[in-house]
Amino acid sequence: MFENLAPRPTDPIMAIMEKCKADTRAEKIDLGVGVYKDAAGQTVILESVKKAEALWGAEETTKSYVGTVGNQDFCQDMLELMLGKDNPAITEGRIGAAQAAGGSGALRLGAELLAVVAPNATVWASNPTWANHIPLISSAGLKMDSYPYYNRETLGVDFEDMLSHLNDKAARGDVVLLHGCCHNPTGADLSPAQWDELAGFMLQRGLTPYVDLAYFGLGRGMSEDTYGLRKLVATVPEVLLAASCSKNFALYRERVGLVAAITATADKSAIARSQFGAIQRKIISMPPDHGAAIVTRILRDEPLRKLWISELDAMRERMLGLRAQLSDALNVQGGETMAAAVKNQNGMFSTLPLSKEQAEALRSEHAVYLMNSGRINIAGANSENIPRLAEAILAVI
Ligand SMILES: Cc1ncc(COP(=O)(O)O)c(C=O)c1O
Repeated sequence: MFENLAPRPTDPIMAIMEKCKADTRAEKIDLGVGVYKDAAGQTVILESVKKAEALWGAEETTKSYVGTVGNQDFCQDMLELMLGKDNPAITEGRIGAAQAAGGSGALRLGAELLAVVAPNATVWASNPTWANHIPLISSAGLKMDSYPYYNRETLGVDFEDMLSHLNDKAARGDVVLLHGCCHNPTGADLSPAQWDELAGFMLQRGLTPYVDLAYFGLGRGMSEDTYGLRKLVATVPEVLLAASCSKNFALYRERVGLVAAITATADKSAIARSQFGAIQRKIISMPPDHGAAIVTRILRDEPLRKLWISELDAMRERMLGLRAQLSDALNVQGGETMAAAVKNQNGMFSTLPLSKEQAEALRSEHAVYLMNSGRINIAGANSENIPRLAEAILAVI
């Protein structure tokens, strides 16, 4: 039967990564792949993680299965971290959560839950959105459509268009996928006032938010980055949440994430949790333990928690510093809109208004590797190469 296998087209990110790897120019700048890098271009293991691993290694007593819904201490700690300990959804027991294999696993479990409870709902995703959202969610058998989000001229969020499109096209009971912060690929986030308005709109139109929180702590700060989620949870009776610890704990390959259903009443939360367990059982049976155990170890140990917060702050501040530096360097005639956007956008990504040909010219003539869409990962730059990066961008536009 394998003679019938047709080769799959190469993933565009992988193709660009390969080209970058093969490029021997010493001055090359890799802004392609979506992982955080330090000033030396390394994706290092956090010190807090190293310490927690050592402690956990000495304490761990079994490698037996962790159960279909995974480590519930981890789920509790993560929910408290994102929503605040005193959040009524937590104190009233209105959240059913499960540990998942990364943010991607969480997104898929959430989509599978939607396929059980709302098989006819359409899931609306921003245009553009993270490339893997569509395969991850539509593979659960759900219909997907898109709403306008990023304006490639102003390089900001087209909030009015977003609301009016959803108002005209989305049906009651549909689901709206929202990037909780650090929108991938654009870096353009809603302001607190826009989150407030969106929450009221979702309530009034009977739409369910599905919040993807993959970068919290890496945008403007923990409370700023969770503002939208908290506002929605306070306003709309039911919210679905997929969170990842890949970026903020730099635990990428450990595959640690969380899916949660915030239910209108406490009696439904245990049912939602058991549904997540039953769904996970059908896909991977049980999530891996290590990453979640490390996150729990960090969050429950005051010195480790402080160390992690300081490391998270350092990652975020480094990116904000690079954004400010790139913005200053782009702030010349013709680069003003980009300069303002790069400074105001959040997290690792920005989408610059470049054509595929301009992106190609940046790669071939300037050894600057970015996606054809114009997406850059700011963490791939450093303070020494930013002036050259800005010059290269200005040269191709
Ligand atoms: C917007 C968004 N959501 C979710 C994820 C999932 O991350 P992971 O599965 O690595 O935890 C990513 C990763 O790049 C992302 O960019």
